[in-house]
Amino acid sequence: MCTKNIIYFEHYSNYVDKCGIMVFEGRPEEILEQEYRKFFETHGRSLETWKRAVQLTPLGVHSNYRLTRPFPVYFGKGEGAYLTDVDGRKYIDFNMGFGALVSGHSNKVIVQELISRIENSTIFGFEDEESLNAAELINERFGTEMVRFSTTGTEATMHALRIARGYTGKTKVLKFEGCYHGSNQDLLFSVKPKPDEAGEERRPRPVPAGLGIPDFMKQGIVISQFNDTASTEELLDEYGEDIAAVILEPFPMNMGVIIPDREFIAMLRRKCDSIGAVLIFDEVKTCGKFYGGAEEVLGVRPDMKILGKAIGGGIPVSAIAGSSEMLSNIGPGKIAHAGTFNSNPLAMAAVSVTLGNVLTRSAMRNAQLLSQELAKGYSDLMADRHLEFHVPVAGLSGAISFNHREPKNWREFLKGDVGKWNYYYIAMLNRGVIPAGPGADEQWTVSVMHSKEEIENTLEAFKDIVPSIGMNFPLLEVEESV
Ligand SMILES: Cc1ncc(COP(=O)(O)O)c(C=O)c1O
Repeated sequence: MCTKNIIYFEHYSNYVDKCGIMVFEGRPEEILEQEYRKFFETHGRSLETWKRAVQLTPLGVHSNYRLTRPFPVYFGKGEGAYLTDVDGRKYIDFNMGFGALVSGHSNKVIVQELISRIENSTIFGFEDEESLNAAELINERFGTEMVRFSTTGTEATMHALRIARGYTGKTKVLKFEGCYHGSNQDLLFSVKPKPDEAGEERRPRPVPAGLGIPDFMKQGIVISQFNDTASTEELLDEYGEDIAAVILEPFPMNMGVIIPDREFIAMLRRKCDSIGAVLIFDEVKTCGKFYGGAEEVLGVRPDMKILGKAIGGGIPVSAIAGSSEMLSNIGPGKIAHAGTFNSNPLAMAAVSVTLGNVLTRSAMRNAQLLSQELAKGYSDLMADRHLEFHVPVAGLSGAISFNHREPKNWREFLKGDVGKWNYYYIAMLNRGVIPAGPGADEQWTVSVMHSKEEIENTLEAFKDIVPSIGMNFPLLEVEESV
């Protein structure tokens, strides 16, 4: 294998033997190269596995988001706050299944419940009583009246738009630049647009996320800038008659962590009421960051909430939850919603035990405190190093943003130093910590199985790399990840 200056594979994907395309010179480059070299040396089995995988699967991964630099790590075991890879390396995990595992890996309480469930079949093809318990837990916790279960976040946002369109009789949907709502065709616009194609900041152009999205679908979408109250209000005035729904991640978590401006969220509620549009919070991530989801913090109730990831404790399940006025329009010949795996007993048992017994208010509060401790630790270690950084925290998640100001929207997020982030990520991996989801647009998730010990050990690893973080690492761009 070529070893000289191996930093990235070409597109770090197709050709694992084609290397050395970036020849690095100078101190920061040497430091980065050392980290990559160490990574190659200690992840031999992952590399070999990935070489086989690319023959079988496009890019060797089953979700584009899992294509990571310089090649994906393959894992074999997860337990509590830890993951072990196929080379036998153990990591403190803060990706936690992209936020799906607030309950921790293989939480014993959930495992016991699922084992007894599996012994009594995992799919009936008919209704089962457990779904009532799961729906009640969701309604109590998230302040909703009715629930329909699906399997993934992508499906749930797709159905939610149909419900909103069916209910209002209107077509267009307003979404925000940088927000991701799954690989739902309707919303695969302006997920990670490049500034030169994204149009004016206050009137962004819809940019399809890749090929295969028909041009006519642009007719159904209006793009706005997150946290920009004035320009969003203008767009809602202009297109109000045609707008069926406004959909947003209330705390956007596909551009790091963005803290919403309260007045912005309040305006969306007022405006949706006045133009007759449905306000949808996509809480696939945020439902697991705060006990009662974003409403608990923002004080604004949307018409529909899309829940996913954390509610299943590691089993795939999503939910469309909202007012009965809205959801009671679902039905044959009215608004379609169906799915073989919807509310399967395994998923329902998982929701019941996860929400009822594991993600309790006190357990989540504890994880939030640990998240704050982690953020403070990162900030303290970077203080006085002449670094531009911010560490926004939302519930039990947070992110390091190497930016001159805390990003409030996609355009500001893009000003961050991804080169620095890239060094931080690989260097932490080499020190046994998966510090966040794999991408500067991701964030950490502290689970209810993390403890002070994992926070302290993570900060200890960070202490080791912080002297190098101030260097000018090779610039990188945020890439389309879906
Ligand atoms: C906010 C948001 N909505 C929807 C989705 C899609 O969920 P899924 O991957 O389960 O389809 C994601 C996935 O990361 C997400 O972050």
